[in-house]
Amino acid sequence: MASLPLMVIVLAAGMGTRMKSNMAKVLHPIGHKPMVGHVIDLAAQMGADAMAVVVAPDNPTLEDVVRAHFSGAEIFEQKDRLGTAHAVAQAKAAFEGREGAVLVLYGDTPLLTEPALSGLLSELEAGADVGVLGFHAADPTGYGRLLVDDTGALTAIREEKEASDAEKAVTFCNSGVMGFRAEVMGALLDQIGNDNAKGEYYLTDAVEVARARGLKTFASVCAEDEVLGVNDRVQLSEAESLFQARARREAQRAGCSLLAPETVYFSHDTQIGRDVIIEPHVIFGPGVVIEDGARIFGFSHLEATHIGAGAMVGPYARLRPGAVIGEGAKIGNFVEVKQADIQAGAKVNHLTYIGDAVIGSGANIGAGTITCNYDGFFKHKTVVGAGAFVGSNTSLIAPVAVGAGAYIGSSSVISEDVEADGLAVTRPERRVVPGWAKRYRAKQKAKKAAQKS
Ligand code: UD1
Ligand code: CA
Repeated sequence: MASLPLMVIVLAAGMGTRMKSNMAKVLHPIGHKPMVGHVIDLAAQMGADAMAVVVAPDNPTLEDVVRAHFSGAEIFEQKDRLGTAHAVAQAKAAFEGREGAVLVLYGDTPLLTEPALSGLLSELEAGADVGVLGFHAADPTGYGRLLVDDTGALTAIREEKEASDAEKAVTFCNSGVMGFRAEVMGALLDQIGNDNAKGEYYLTDAVEVARARGLKTFASVCAEDEVLGVNDRVQLSEAESLFQARARREAQRAGCSLLAPETVYFSHDTQIGRDVIIEPHVIFGPGVVIEDGARIFGFSHLEATHIGAGAMVGPYARLRPGAVIGEGAKIGNFVEVKQADIQAGAKVNHLTYIGDAVIGSGANIGAGTITCNYDGFFKHKTVVGAGAFVGSNTSLIAPVAVGAGAYIGSSSVISEDVEADGLAVTRPERRVVPGWAKRYRAKQKAKKAAQKS
C-alpha cells in the first residue's frame, strides 16, 4: 500500500489555566523535552511533510520551540477559543488543496507512539475518509464517546454534555486524535455548527457530517496511557512517570542493566550502549551518550556528557556539559567535571573539580585537586599531559600546563607551566619547634585560670 502524503495539525491554543504557570502548558517538559516537541517529533518520524500548529496569540517562545522541532512548520493563531473544529479551521490555508492524509493531534498529549498513529493512517490509506483514535477508558467521564453500529463502523462521537444515559455508559472514548482525507476535510469543517451545550465548534461532529454524506468513517484503538492528556501538574508527573517507565524498558531491551530501574531518570535523548550498568539513583540531563561496557555508580548526575567504553563514573559524580570521559577512564566520588576532556585511562578518583581542562591519557589526579579556571571574568584552560601525576590537594591555576609524565607534589599551587617529566612542588619549608605545643597549652591554661579567679 502506497503511503499517503501526510500533514499534521497540532492543537496548542489551550490556556493551560490549571497548570498555574507563566509558561504555555505545551512547553512543560517530559523527559527534558517540551510536550509539544514530543508530538511534533513523532509527526516528523511518521513522515509528515507539512506541519501546522495552532497556538494562542503572543507566544513567541512557543513559536520558536515549534520551529526548532520542525523548521517548516506553519503557525496559526487562534484568537478566540471556540472549539476544536474552530482551532483546526484556523489552519485551513495549510490543508486546503492538499491531497493525502491530515492528522489532528493535541500538543498536550505527549505519550502517543508511532504504532497507534500507523493504525489510524492505514485505514485512511485503505480508503476511509474520517477516523478517530479511540481507547477503552477505565473512567470515561469527560471524554467524547465513540458510537459504533453493528458492523463496528463509527457513527458518531458524542460529547459528554450531549450524551444520553445510555451513551454515557459507553467506555470506548475519543482520544482527541483524528484523521482525515485531505480532499474532504475543508467541506466537512464548513458544515460543523456550534448549536450544542458548550456553544463550541466540535471537531468530533465531523463524523456525523461525513456519515450524512455517505463517507467512510472508522475508529482505531490504542492503549489509554498513550493518550494521557496533561491538564495540571499532577497529570504532568503521571505522564513523566509513564515516559520514564518506557525509557527504562527501552534501555534494558537495548542491553543496559538497571539495578533499580524505578530510581533512574532518563532524558528523551539519552543514548546507551551494550553492557552498560547503571546503579540506583542516577539522573540524566539532556545530551548524554554512554559507550559499551561503562558503569555508572549510584547517585551520579550527568548532563551533556560523553562517556567512553568501559569508563567508570561515580558514585556521587557530577558530569556537567562538555565532560568527555575517555575509554576506561575513572571518575570517582564527589568529582565534578565540566567542559573537560578526560582521556583514556585517566583517573580522577576523589573530591575534585576539573573544569575547562584536558587530562591526558593515563594521568592520575589526586584527591582534592582543583582546577582554578575562573578569575571572576574569564575562564582559563588547564592541560595535564599524558601519564602525569598530580598529587593530592593541588591547585592548578589556569591557564597552566603540566607536561606529559610530570609529577606535582601534594598540596602544590601550580600557576606556571611544568615541563614534561619534571617535578614541581610548592610546599612551604617545614618548621618544627620541639615542645612548643606543651608550652602553649600550659600558658593558655594559666590564662584561663587567672580569668576565673
Ligand atoms: C476533546 C474532544 C473529546 C475527547 C477529548 C480527549 C472535542 C469537541 N472533544 O474534548 O471528544 O474525548 O478531547 O481529551 O473535540 N483546543 C484549542 N482550541 C480550542 C479548543 C481546544 O486549541 O478552541 C485544544 C486544547 O488546547 C486541547 C485540545 O484542543 O489541547 C482539546 O481541547 P479540550 O477543550 O480539552 O477538549 P475536551 O473538551 O477535553
Ligand atoms: Ca481535554
